[in-house]
Amino acid sequence: MKSKKILVIGSSNTDMTVKTDKLPAPGETVLGGVFTMGNGGKGANQAVAAKRLGGDVTFVCKVGKDLFGENSSESYSREGLDISHILYSEKPSGVALINVDANAENSISVASGANMDFSVEDIRKIEDVIREAGIMLLQLEIPVETVLEAARIASESGTFVILNPAPACTLPSEIYRYVSLVIPNETEVSQMSGVQVTDCATAEEAAGRLRLQGAGNVIITLGSKGSLICGNDGVTHIPSRKVDAIDTTAAGDTFCGALCVALAEGKDLVQAVRFATVASSIAVTRSGAQESVPKRAEVDDALSAWK
Ligand code: RIB
Repeated sequence: MKSKKILVIGSSNTDMTVKTDKLPAPGETVLGGVFTMGNGGKGANQAVAAKRLGGDVTFVCKVGKDLFGENSSESYSREGLDISHILYSEKPSGVALINVDANAENSISVASGANMDFSVEDIRKIEDVIREAGIMLLQLEIPVETVLEAARIASESGTFVILNPAPACTLPSEIYRYVSLVIPNETEVSQMSGVQVTDCATAEEAAGRLRLQGAGNVIITLGSKGSLICGNDGVTHIPSRKVDAIDTTAAGDTFCGALCVALAEGKDLVQAVRFATVASSIAVTRSGAQESVPKRAEVDDALSAWK
């Protein structure tokens, strides 16, 4: 790793969450919920996770010139993120409507707004920041061509590029040339590979397909079934840490942010996935996105007690 600096480029949303016993089916109204509002967006959640867990983190996102954008950027500053390159759009800030059920599962609809205004030209203006980073973490809540350009610049300058392909979409195959590590969940990897992933065996098959397309290392997160590392050193299964989950929102984001911190500290992939697994296992025991992300000491304590 050329430096310990972590750069997260991605989305910022305001999350409006309703917690009900069950997720509404199409055409159904479910009563009895509890409403909360907080900061979210996969990019922002990952940046906050990396920072709270001890990383030196710069976060670049695009928000609207509105109250939501103002509140989010103030909150990212309070977290200690470097947001000196934050961008503003004439479009409204991103909003996510989230339903969470009694089994901790969620469904999310996003009004992307300013996030989808994040352009290739915006990326070219922060080329220096990308080149300085040791690790760059990307997701897919901003335009794919913007992600592709960031990945291209980063890989040219030896920055380790991690892609969390969430939400899944059709990716240009050249992206794999620029990405060092891909971290999909089972739904995303099923869509990307065409293999219906239900267990470790199908996850390994799906990872194999991504690797044939050019992906180097692939980590598939499988929820309660743990995660699978498939890469140049073979296949390793890391089990999940058993907890009582109440809300899985941002569990994957916490995993990705934590993984970056561990890699920046020089841990190998297996150690880094164990650290990330513990961090996300704590996040699912709490409600909300960024509110659920643990602090470093909590993760260290739980990790040392985890067999
Ligand atoms: O990954 C969880 C996030 O997805 C939420 O915070 C929401 O904003 C959506 O982007």
